[in-house]
Amino acid sequence: KARVGILISGRGSNMAALIEASHASDCPYEVALVVSNVPDAAGLAYAAANGIPQFAASHKGMKRAEFDALVDGALRDAGVEYVALAGYMRLLSPAFVDRWAGRMVNIHPSLLPAYKGLDTHQRVLDAGETRHGATVHLVTAELDDGPILAQAEVPVLEGDDAEALARRVLIEEHKLYPQALAELIRR
Ligand code: GAR
Repeated sequence: KARVGILISGRGSNMAALIEASHASDCPYEVALVVSNVPDAAGLAYAAANGIPQFAASHKGMKRAEFDALVDGALRDAGVEYVALAGYMRLLSPAFVDRWAGRMVNIHPSLLPAYKGLDTHQRVLDAGETRHGATVHLVTAELDDGPILAQAEVPVLEGDDAEALARRVLIEEHKLYPQALAELIRR
């Protein structure tokens, strides 16, 4: 099975979905390492409970390239072949992006190319959109850019607030991400 490293900064529900899916016998990947730039990220407990090695270190006080080199070293040491960003709320240095080109994916809570960046759910509501969703894409140097691998759509419903909409999108994220990653690895 292909060895995947997952980068998180927080809750890690997408990480958990990727780990959960990896337990299926026909899944083409296993999760070899979870990395967090936030040492007390909630997702780390889940990774630990599942016996997955982790590398957690704060980026604070470090240059971006310097921190990314540390992460890259941890990924290499763990024999990682693919990287999945799962709520990793940090821009990556060009060298790191280059090094993982074609083998690093991200999930973003919008129907890209619409609504790159932060606060997507509120911005979608403010714009009066009727549809929203999530996108898995290959990571390139540009934020929330790069070839789209898969998308899932949800309706925006009357009376939605950002939390309700985020919940509806997140349910789809958890299905979409493992599928899209498996597809990339199989191709
Ligand atoms: C997810 O909705 C993910 O799509 C989004 O953050 C959330 C992380 O939740 N990612 C981004 O906004 C990336 N810019 P999780 O930690 O429970 O997976």
